[in-house]
Amino acid sequence: MQLDPSAGGTAAASAPHTIPAAPETVALPARLGHILSLDDFEVAARRHLPGPVFAYISGAVERNASLRANARSFEQYEFVTRVLIDMSRRTTATTLLGKRWSAPFGMAPMGISALSAYRGDLVLAQGAARENVPMIMSGSSLIRLEEIVQANPDAWFQAYLPGAEHEIVALVERVKAAGYRTLVVTVDASIASNRENNIRAGFSTPLRPSVRLAWEGLTHPRWLFGTFLKTIARHGMPHFENNYARRGAPILSSSVLRDFSDRGHLNWDHLRMIRRMWPGQLVLKGILDVRDARLAVENGADGIIVSNHGGRQLDGTVAPLRVLPGIVEACPEVPVMIDSGFRRGTDVIKALALGAKFVFIGRPFNYAASVAGEAGVRKAVALLREEVSRNMAMLGVTSPSELDESYLLKTWPGDPAHRRPLA
Ligand SMILES: Cc1cc2nc3c(=O)[nH]c(=O)nc-3n(C[C@H](O)[C@H](O)[C@H](O)COP(=O)(O)O)c2cc1C
Repeated sequence: MQLDPSAGGTAAASAPHTIPAAPETVALPARLGHILSLDDFEVAARRHLPGPVFAYISGAVERNASLRANARSFEQYEFVTRVLIDMSRRTTATTLLGKRWSAPFGMAPMGISALSAYRGDLVLAQGAARENVPMIMSGSSLIRLEEIVQANPDAWFQAYLPGAEHEIVALVERVKAAGYRTLVVTVDASIASNRENNIRAGFSTPLRPSVRLAWEGLTHPRWLFGTFLKTIARHGMPHFENNYARRGAPILSSSVLRDFSDRGHLNWDHLRMIRRMWPGQLVLKGILDVRDARLAVENGADGIIVSNHGGRQLDGTVAPLRVLPGIVEACPEVPVMIDSGFRRGTDVIKALALGAKFVFIGRPFNYAASVAGEAGVRKAVALLREEVSRNMAMLGVTSPSELDESYLLKTWPGDPAHRRPLA
């Protein structure tokens, strides 16, 4: 592992500038010994989780056009490698928003993570802290945001803005009082999307008790006893804790309706209001249009996450990688980050070469937490960081900051990947 000691990564202590023979220090249970890449966590999670819970995480919307486009978008670019460059002192460490992290990627916010993994948000936060990568705590979560920032003072908080102004104010005040320094406002989900797959799979929030759900639990005993019943026995019935300053609905109920207050009227005035009251760093997540990127910057955003929400909002939305270069060019003042569909070190490097400062990854970290808790999360970080490091060496760069478009070429026109409609 090649980590800059100043990046604080766990593997950095021994020999930061040498390339150790064994890349991995985090041990997974023997049953997960086959895990070699982030995609392998998905296979393991599919077996481990009840069908409706796995469907909620893995799914997207309608025809999954954006989900597929995200995965395909990386094929539009191929690498042009450089040779005979001293790689022995390379580092994956990257500075973002004033902090040096061990890698140029982090964990995207994911709601309800404590349903799929025991203390899900907490193990993500702890794993991120141990590996020194950023973790964004979702506002649609089941563990109080105060507990997460205590476990990981560098965690960021992501808010879905409540519809009413006084509730926005109360939530932002709560996040500030808790000690978060970076607030991410997700702006691509003012309207609930059409998650038909959830309905078909029997998933809803709150979950409705049913024979089907009970059967799914019984046929996934490791999850039933190790996550769901353990959570209820030790912590009581989980509730949505962080959508508002107050507590929300329970996760399991036959009668309670989750409070989705109308957010369709939210606009840039609300962002300006938040900017005035939030002293820390403000990041907007869910930007795809250059004009919105400019508006974000002009209204005081300190960073932008180019994202189509992992293909979970408007189906047919463009893959973020396609619009990334335009947004980077238009917004030189702020770090432009990206998420949606990243699974490999090569994916991360392509985005960095196109000007992204940082990459966020969602589902794989959720799967890793589900099947192996904090060890799984740390293993996922280590695997991806190793890929980035190895790929950097083969590409001929010693630091992520050296990457630029000169290392990429658009896919050969005769290639089938090129003949497909652009992702
Ligand atoms: C299960 C799940 C829950 C999510 N919950 C949130 C959320 O609460 N807030 C948010 O801004 N984005 C949420 N997202 C979107 C992610 O932050 C991120 O944009 C997306 O997952 C990135 O794509 P990837 O999963 O392909 O890496 C969620 C995604 C998933 C898969």
